[in-house]
Amino acid sequence: MLNLVGMNVRYERCLGTELFTEDGRRILDFLSGYCVHNTGHNHPAIVQALKDELDRCGPAMLQTDVPELAGELARRLCRLAGGGLNKAYFGSSGSEGVEAAIKFCRAATGRTGLLYCTGGFHGLTCGALSLMSDPFWRAGFGPMLPETEHVQFGNLAALEEKLATRRFAGFITEPIQSEAGITLPPREYLKAAEHLCKRHGTLFVLDEVQTGMFRTGPFLAAHEYGARPDMVILAKALSGGLIPSGAVLITDEIYEGVYSSIRHAFIHTSTYSENGLAMRAGLATLDVLEGERLGERATAAGEGLRRRLREALSRFEMVKEVRGAGLLCGIEFTAPRGLGMRVSFEAFRKIHPAMFGQCVVMRLFRERGILTQICGNNFMVLKVAPPLTVSDAQIEEFVEGIRETMEYVHSSGGFWGEARQLVRRGIKI
Ligand SMILES: Cc1ncc(COP(=O)(O)O)c(C=O)c1O
Repeated sequence: MLNLVGMNVRYERCLGTELFTEDGRRILDFLSGYCVHNTGHNHPAIVQALKDELDRCGPAMLQTDVPELAGELARRLCRLAGGGLNKAYFGSSGSEGVEAAIKFCRAATGRTGLLYCTGGFHGLTCGALSLMSDPFWRAGFGPMLPETEHVQFGNLAALEEKLATRRFAGFITEPIQSEAGITLPPREYLKAAEHLCKRHGTLFVLDEVQTGMFRTGPFLAAHEYGARPDMVILAKALSGGLIPSGAVLITDEIYEGVYSSIRHAFIHTSTYSENGLAMRAGLATLDVLEGERLGERATAAGEGLRRRLREALSRFEMVKEVRGAGLLCGIEFTAPRGLGMRVSFEAFRKIHPAMFGQCVVMRLFRERGILTQICGNNFMVLKVAPPLTVSDAQIEEFVEGIRETMEYVHSSGGFWGEARQLVRRGIKI
């Protein structure tokens, strides 16, 4: 697949927002490994902290002790998250966090139902997959978990109707749906959802795997909306993009409901969850995020980026909207109105709905040395999510790159011809 779209290159060195390839190219990373590299690639302070941790020869993973680094990281994450979030469970990925959240909801409420939002992305393990409505991800892997139901993101009436049945242990959603196309909720939605959940005895769980760790400005996207979730799932950027790690932050009440007795002290755990390197990476990542004030940077740079993108792209008929929060941005494309382009566009869409977006990604990469991707559940939205350390000059370089690409799409048959060649190369989609 990477060969087909011309992105199969060998990377040798990755630093900050820049990736250097074996054949001497320099690529600008505006994807950040899907919101992993908030602190930039191989941040020297995080790398050094990990080297020091290895040199220390400390208790990396004993399973029979109280791991102090995990305690320290838990305390800092809970302090930053605020609300009633007071305990942390660590795992090694976002999906593992979602699995834990499912179990915690059920154990703490005694209910079995799980409610989630259409279009969301929560991971590809079986439990997480059961909270994703898109049949593409599920096909061939069923049956999914029973008693999982979905509601439309942003629709409070639909949510209340479901919650009123009092069958649901948890309502699990991203605060801003990332793979669905950088979909922001109506301003009041999350706070109102929190109150509805409380009223009907359902736990309100926010999957902040992409939006957390200052990606959208505040530590959690929930903070921007004044929402106080019962549970928050973090992963991706948590450990500086260097060691697998994830965390589920919970209230004391949920903790008591799950780890309810000595007998249940280890009722949910996983081998590598609190390992010293992941915890050290987490602590060093927080030092960098806070020390370099990257949340504030995300807010200011994100606003600037969207303003510049609107200025540069508003005249193109295929650009419908530029939106986002902090440095989680999306450029939404729309079908062209003019007959010439429309025929080509529809032909591509018939072959595969991702064809247009993927050709934009391909051209940006090949001609401008810029790495991006389209959203996993919405192929008409280009995700724009550079490291939070991105410079103003790099933002300008991206704006110019996408402007030039859109110019090419709108002004020449070349773009559409290339896409046709892609098809001819015999893709089995
Ligand atoms: C919002 C969200 N939740 C959960 C996950 C799953 O995380 P992981 O791939 O670490 O299992 C992802 C992955 O992209 C995600 O975007």
